[in-house]
Amino acid sequence: MRIALIGYGRMGREIEKIALERGHSLSLAIDMGNAPDLHQLSRENSDVAIEFTVAASAPANYLACFKAGVPVVSGTTGWLCEWDAVLAQCREWEGTFFYASNFSVGVNLFFELSRKLALLMTGRPDYQPLIREIHHAGKKDAPSGTALTLAEGLLGALPGKTGWVSHAAPGEAEIPVLSERTGDHPGTHTVAWESDDDIVEITHQAKSRRGFALGAVMAAEFCREHRGVLSMRDMLDL
Ligand SMILES: NC(=O)c1ccc[n+]([C@@H]2O[C@H](COP(=O)([O-])OP(=O)(O)OC[C@H]3O[C@@H](n4cnc5c(N)ncnc54)[C@H](O)[C@@H]3O)[C@@H](O)[C@H]2O)c1
Repeated sequence: MRIALIGYGRMGREIEKIALERGHSLSLAIDMGNAPDLHQLSRENSDVAIEFTVAASAPANYLACFKAGVPVVSGTTGWLCEWDAVLAQCREWEGTFFYASNFSVGVNLFFELSRKLALLMTGRPDYQPLIREIHHAGKKDAPSGTALTLAEGLLGALPGKTGWVSHAAPGEAEIPVLSERTGDHPGTHTVAWESDDDIVEITHQAKSRRGFALGAVMAAEFCREHRGVLSMRDMLDL
């Protein structure tokens, strides 16, 4: 496939490596310095775009892809307050939008495991949930998009919980989501259920950025055969 990279930072470079390994080519590599080149994007030069930039740029980049008729895969986090508007634009332009707050296959299995554990904990108020995440010092958003997806999974499974807070002293109906930023850490997420007597804890630990990049390239390949608003649950058939 001819892949247009939008965002050529840590993830963009890792995606380039995996894409070339899997026999794809790069049609465009767009970063801050040449952002206006995005207007060159078209179906004639690109089969798919992969977008990993910053929250402030992502929705405008998606719109450019929808207008160009090029499916877009994105993992940029921190912009989800604009989700409804982005989806409306995707539908208006009949675009294809594959979004994941985390492209690691392991993390998406972990999301399912966390939802199942939450169902086991329903009706056991002696166990209270807590989410912890650690990422590299350069990560701009906190909590991570992955931690928020975990929190949403818990909120969907637990009728007594209505929201999350980013500190360790939650109200009865709140789930604490605690963030730490340190070194070059690629990402660790833990969901812990604590009672007075013990702790049940599940953890996903990324070893490198490779798993995220591989998932994003697999998502781009998935867009060859699928259209519309797509997710890892569709791709992994969860
Ligand atoms: N979904 C996932 O699996 C996953 C995994 C890792 C990171 N992320 C997210 O992906 C995003 C990028 O992460 P990163 O580690 O590559 O960050 P990074 O800071 O290394 O790279 C971002 C790049 O985007 C560029 N950029 C900014 N505005 C732009 C614009 N308008 N057009 C083109 N390029 C622009 C920056 O110059 C930079 O090079 C973050 O939001 C991060 O949280 C998601």
